[in-house]
Amino acid sequence: MQPQVFARRRRELLRQMPPDSVAILPAAHHPIRNRDVEYPYHQESDFYYLTGFAEPDAILVLRKSGRKGSWGLFCQERNRKQEQWTGERLGTKRAISRMGADQAWPIESWLEQLPDLLTGTQQIFFNLGEESSIEQGLLRQLREFRQRNRSGAVVPQTIHLLDPMLHEMRLYKSPAEIRIMRRAASVTVAAHRRAMRACSPGLVESGLEGEILHEFSSHGVRIVAYDTIVAGGNNACTLHYINNSEKLRDGDLVLVDAGAEVEGYAADVTRTFPVNGRFTTEQRKLYEIVLAAQRAAIQQIRPGRRWDTFHRAAVRVITRGLIDLKILKGDPEQLIKDEKYKKFYMHQTGHWLGMDVHDVGNYQLDGKWRPLEQGMVLTVEPALYIPKGVRGVAKKWQGIGIRIEDDVVVTDSGCEVLTAEAPRSIEEIESLMAG
Ligand code: GLY
Ligand code: MN
Ligand code: MN
Repeated sequence: MQPQVFARRRRELLRQMPPDSVAILPAAHHPIRNRDVEYPYHQESDFYYLTGFAEPDAILVLRKSGRKGSWGLFCQERNRKQEQWTGERLGTKRAISRMGADQAWPIESWLEQLPDLLTGTQQIFFNLGEESSIEQGLLRQLREFRQRNRSGAVVPQTIHLLDPMLHEMRLYKSPAEIRIMRRAASVTVAAHRRAMRACSPGLVESGLEGEILHEFSSHGVRIVAYDTIVAGGNNACTLHYINNSEKLRDGDLVLVDAGAEVEGYAADVTRTFPVNGRFTTEQRKLYEIVLAAQRAAIQQIRPGRRWDTFHRAAVRVITRGLIDLKILKGDPEQLIKDEKYKKFYMHQTGHWLGMDVHDVGNYQLDGKWRPLEQGMVLTVEPALYIPKGVRGVAKKWQGIGIRIEDDVVVTDSGCEVLTAEAPRSIEEIESLMAG
């Protein structure tokens, strides 16, 4: 992403902020895993959205003095000795010369600078509740102002969450963001195709996960958007199964939910296919229901349709399909009203997708499901889960979990499925696995 993009986003946020306000946004903390080993670092998405800066120990400050906006960055200062171990840092000088910050300070001086940053400011935008040392420092400073401020200086009276403004911005993806998401989608599609080709009975679930990661790495992608799910047979009925430790069995299906993260944007794709390359009769019948539900849902995605419309379309197809197979009995409308499908399909048909796999953005406005608009990106992921031992269902259907998940962008007149190249129909899957 070009630096101008981040500058434009900061300007837009500043435009929306009231006069004499300040927004404070810390970078993600870098937790230790054990001893000298750290968890892989991942920047906080809001912070990255506004800066494109991937280092830890940093704080973004946006200030509006009167109507004039400026921004500053607290960051790690350059330090040759430490950089020898952990790599190059940007440092404060280059935060100004390269990133275009109006001001930059070493992160250690944050508490010292805080009174100056807040004086003359009436409102603060800060996401409370993270319980970070930065939040504690800020709250301590405000208490100090309350107790000692007899000089008449203007000090903040109100704290707002930053989320509502920022997350509404993040919900609408620009053409440049969609181009990146298209790349995340295409790497992810290649990984799913590779997993289908590599699958055979006896392979451990983690072996198939390895195929996914291999494909990601070979495209230069080292970050998964979320932990890869490889769930054989009954394991697919656990929605977020990530043990990936069991052998894949002949005659079972396997559910693979995997997505690459490219330049900070996630893909989120699920495919379900037979371990041995051929669907059984029962698997085929259930799979066709989920596939038809997905088709019906995708048909509903266009500007103006409310968020719940595509979910309701999927629920209708799933309920009718389960009645046809005698897994549910009764009147379809009544069964839908009573939410009887929830025993086998207990999640929503999608979620916003973007920098976070479950991306930010409200689903409702003023108590009503919001209409879809051009530039919104979402997943469409109907499913059926019939675990072993479930009551009232013939044994032949049990131990089967199927989810089909694609990433969809709302266009001016309909939608585009970014991940359509990952085989979805029974014929496509069987033919790829046979080859
Ligand atoms: N991969 C998580 C989800 O599908 O929502
Ligand atoms: Mn999803
Ligand atoms: Mn998923």
